[in-house]
Amino acid sequence: MKLFIDTANIREIAEINDWGVLAGVTTNPSLVAKEGRDFLEVLREITAMVDGPISAEVLSTEAEGMIQEGTALSKIHPNIVIKIPMTAEGLKAVKGLKERGIRTNVTLVFSANQALLAARAGAAYVSPFVGRMDDIGNAGMDLIRDIAHIFDIHGIDTEIIAASIRHPIHVTEAALAGAHIATIPYDVWKKMLVHPMTEQGIEKFMQDWNNRK
Ligand code: E4P
Repeated sequence: MKLFIDTANIREIAEINDWGVLAGVTTNPSLVAKEGRDFLEVLREITAMVDGPISAEVLSTEAEGMIQEGTALSKIHPNIVIKIPMTAEGLKAVKGLKERGIRTNVTLVFSANQALLAARAGAAYVSPFVGRMDDIGNAGMDLIRDIAHIFDIHGIDTEIIAASIRHPIHVTEAALAGAHIATIPYDVWKKMLVHPMTEQGIEKFMQDWNNRK
């Protein structure tokens, strides 16, 4: 499973990118709004830093507008992937963008059938929202498992991005459930790195080394 970061914050992306394991970035309008910066400028900075798919979401609700926006955003860099909401207009836009050679990531996926529709429209990625499913009392990880199974038995090559990740256990479970990618918020990346036994182990090695005869 590849690891993406779910943020529009350049400092967070730079820090995690330095670890050498970051494979891509996802943004959404809420994350971009939080930064209070120019969207296109932020995207340019991300593309200059990260070598992998970078999802940028459209704001139009009609297919034609989504295609126009997506086409313009895709000109920023070949790594830009257009994030499209899971609606009938969105499906039309996915098809239209694919015909123009532009990759899409269908977002706000909450059912296996939505994922199947997005895949059949030609999406390169689908983003099921695990945490938001959990929030309403449905097991978000079951959705990842079902989509992975359906894509597998039908030879569908659309990649599954486990989105709305809230804690490290989500990441482990997404990998076990067959997600191709998890898009992980900065704070969860930091939590994944640490374990008290690792810290204790380093401290003990250093102590023993310093007390050597
Ligand atoms: C997906 O790409 C979205 O940006 C994101 O994962 C949404 O997560 P949230 O439910 O924490 O807002």
